[in-house]
Amino acid sequence: MNAGRGIVWSWALFLPLAVFLLLMMSSAQVYAEVPNAVPPKGDHKGEDVPQPIEFPHDIHAKINEINCMYCHTYARRSKVAGIPPTSKCMGCHSVIATDKPRIQKLTEYWEKREPPPWNKVHDVPDYVHFTHEKHLKRFVFDNEELPVERVSEVCAFCHGEVKNMTVAHKVKPLTMGFCVRCHEANKGPSDCWKCHK
Ligand code: HEC
Ligand code: HEC
Ligand code: HEC
Ligand code: HEC
Ligand code: HEC
Repeated sequence: MNAGRGIVWSWALFLPLAVFLLLMMSSAQVYAEVPNAVPPKGDHKGEDVPQPIEFPHDIHAKINEINCMYCHTYARRSKVAGIPPTSKCMGCHSVIATDKPRIQKLTEYWEKREPPPWNKVHDVPDYVHFTHEKHLKRFVFDNEELPVERVSEVCAFCHGEVKNMTVAHKVKPLTMGFCVRCHEANKGPSDCWKCHK
C-alpha cells in the first residue's frame, strides 16, 4: 500500500517535469529557425581557399560576438557585402594579440599600406545578378520577428555557419538550382532576367 502511494507520488512529480522539458525542447526548436523563412537545402564540399592570413571567424564572431555586419558593412545596402579595411582590424589589433605571428603579418601589411590580398571564397559567374541588399531586407530588416543580432542565421542560408569556422570556406552550392528552389519556397522572383541581366 505504501509502495503504491510512492509510485503515484513519483508520477505526480515526474509528469509536470516531463511536460516542462518537452515545452523547453519545442521552444528551443522554434528559436533555432529563422521565422518567416524556408531555409534552402543543399551542401557543397570543397577545398579551403588559401589566404595570406588565416582569418578566424570563430574567434571574432562566436567567442567575441562581433556582428557580421560590423565588418561586412555593405551587405545591408548594396550588391556586395564587402571585406573590411585593415584600419578596422587595427582598431583592435594595434593593442590586441600583437605578439601573435598572424597579427604581426597583418601589421606589416598595414605599415606597407597594402590590404592583405584576400582570395575569393564565393564567386558566382559574371552573367549572374546577385544582391545582398534584397535578401537581407526580406529576411532580416523587413522581418519583424527576427532581431538583427541573429543576422548570422540568415547569412548561414548561403554561407553556412561561418561563425564556427577557423577559416572561411564554401559549404553551400550557390548553383542555379539552389537559388531557384529557394525563390520558389519563399516567393522570390522566378523570371530568368531577374538573375540574368
Ligand atoms: C572582424 C571582422 C569580421 C567579422 C566580425 C566577420 N567577418 Fe567575414 N570576413 C572577414 C575577413 C577579413 C574576410 C576575408 C578573409 C577570408 O575570406 O577568410 C571575411 C570573409 C568572409 C566570407 C567569405 C568571402 C568570400 O570571399 O566569399 C564570408 C561568407 C563571411 N566573411 C561571412 C561572415 C559572416 C556570416 C559573419 C558573421 C557570422 C562574419 N563574416 C563576420 C572579416 C569579418
Ligand atoms: C573588436 C576587436 C577586433 C577587431 C575589429 C578585429 N579583431 Fe582580430 N581578434 C580580436 C580578439 C579579441 C582576438 C583574440 C586575441 C587572443 O586570442 O589573444 C583576435 C584574434 C585574431 C587573430 C588570431 C591571432 C592568433 O594567432 O591567435 C587574427 C589572425 C585576427 N584576429 C585577425 C583580424 C583581422 C584580419 C581583422 C580585421 C579584418 C581583425 N582581426 C579585427 C579582436 C578583434
Ligand atoms: C541569399 C544568399 C546569400 C545571403 C543570405 C548572404 N550571402 Fe553573401 N554571398 C552570396 C553570393 C551568391 C555571393 C557571391 C557573389 C558574387 O560572386 O558576386 C556572396 C558573397 C559574399 C562575400 C564576398 C564578396 C562580397 O560580396 O563582398 C561576403 C563577405 C559575404 N557574401 C558575406 C555575407 C554576410 C556577412 C551575409 C549576412 C549578413 C551574407 N553574405 C548573406 C549569397 C548570400
Ligand atoms: C534563402 C532563400 C534564397 C536564396 C538561397 C536565394 N534567394 Fe534570391 N531572393 C529570395 C527572395 C525571397 C527574394 C525576394 C525579396 C523581395 O523582393 O522581398 C529574392 C530576391 C532576389 C533578387 C532580386 C530581384 C529583384 O527584384 O530585383 C535577385 C537578383 C536574387 N534574389 C538572386 C538570387 C541568386 C542569384 C541566388 C543564388 C546565388 C539567390 N537569389 C538565392 C530568396 C533567396
Ligand atoms: C534565382 C536566380 C536564377 C534564376 C531565376 C535563373 N537562373 Fe540561370 N543561373 C543562376 C545561377 C546562380 C547560375 C550559375 C550556376 C553555376 O555557377 O553553377 C545560372 C546559370 C545559368 C546558365 C548557365 C549554364 C548552366 O546551367 O550552368 C544558363 C544557360 C541559365 N542559368 C539560364 C537560365 C534561364 C533560361 C532561366 C529562366 C528559366 C534562369 N536561368 C533563371 C541563377 C538563376
